[in-house]
Amino acid sequence: MKTKILMVCLGNICRSPLAEGILASKLDPKKYIVDSAGTAGYHVGELPDRRSIATAKLHGIDITYQRCRKFTKADFHSFDYIFAMDQSNYENILALAQTNEDRKKVQLILNQISPNSNAEVPDPYYGGNQGFENVYQMLDEACTIFAKRLSQES
Ligand code: 4NP
Repeated sequence: MKTKILMVCLGNICRSPLAEGILASKLDPKKYIVDSAGTAGYHVGELPDRRSIATAKLHGIDITYQRCRKFTKADFHSFDYIFAMDQSNYENILALAQTNEDRKKVQLILNQISPNSNAEVPDPYYGGNQGFENVYQMLDEACTIFAKRLSQES
């Protein structure tokens, strides 16, 4: 059985598509499935934001296969790990959890870098390209650490 990881932000067009693309680039697709979703449904069916696409491309990662979707309760059953980008996403996800098993799957992504720091990936939607590069660097560091942890587990 493949290990399944879900990246979640608000819109599923800026941060979580980058997180999905970055983590997928570090894992063997024969062993892992990486997906992303948003807690809000404003952009369902859309491509990632063009600035996320451009930032990923600068680093050699193609995220244009992705389409925005909304997080659902069923995701608690489908995924082994659910990563929130910020505290608000974290609370919105937990509000849909029904069991302790569901709740245990949810973590803030930057706690991979500094456990218990509860640091947030800032929403870059209203800023310029530099905000997207900043998000990329944070996610790359967190995903490198998480991918290493996964490889040590298996
Ligand atoms: P994301 O950024 O949560 O990183 O995808 C946002 C994208 C769109 C909106 C908010 C945040 N929006 O309000 O449309």
